[in-house]
Amino acid sequence: MTQGILIAIEGIDGAGKTTQVQLIREFLEAHGQQCVTSKEPTDGQWGRAIRATAASGRLPLEDELELFVKDRKEHIAQLINPALNDDKIVILDRYFYSTIAYQGSRGAAWKRGEQMMDFALVPDATIILDAETGITLDRIRDGRGEQPNEFEKQSSLDLCRKVFRSLGHRPEVHFVDATNSVENVQASILQILLDGPLKAKRCGKQYGCDGLYCSLRQSSTCQWALLQEAAPQRI
Ligand code: TYD
Repeated sequence: MTQGILIAIEGIDGAGKTTQVQLIREFLEAHGQQCVTSKEPTDGQWGRAIRATAASGRLPLEDELELFVKDRKEHIAQLINPALNDDKIVILDRYFYSTIAYQGSRGAAWKRGEQMMDFALVPDATIILDAETGITLDRIRDGRGEQPNEFEKQSSLDLCRKVFRSLGHRPEVHFVDATNSVENVQASILQILLDGPLKAKRCGKQYGCDGLYCSLRQSSTCQWALLQEAAPQRI
């Protein structure tokens, strides 16, 4: 098994995913971890085709689904798998949960959605940034100075949020209140990662942490303990 860690940051448009992906990467890199960040849709051929439709008008559901699946297959083969095999931490700005939420809310049947996802690796942790659409759309308009695009209609985003919020039965999924300050959201995400995949794969002892008197912790050679001590706390 590799020591690679796959993390997906999810949520509706304007929830703050891109900012948090960056902050989590900066924190982990500043403390000795090798990270790769990426996003879906990607900047590859299929991802570019999808992005073009955000301005020009959405494609029929089946065509849209097919493009997201082709984009994801390419992403996994070219970037995600190689980085995980190199034991890196891969942080994704959107992943297959967005397909479940966005194409699901357009009417793609759940079963069909699952079939289209069964090739995708399940992340070690998925963080869904949750906020009401009124708040996220204001952020898009005021914060970014942009007009919401074709993917960003309030009624469809309300439905997407509902689907995201229904994914809590999946063991890797965690919700974070995205209306908190940027610092508190970052601290909450890091806490989830520290308690979950970072503990599982960066603790110096194969059988797991044995507490404060661990010799690796005391000699500052446990990566997990170092990250834990450095992590910002919620205010
Ligand atoms: P987004 O991350 O908002 O791109 P940008 O960096 O241009 O803001 O993604 C574009 C849109 O794609 C977004 O509204 C959600 C949508 N999307 C889906 O509908 N299905 C998917 O599987 C993914 C990954 C994204």
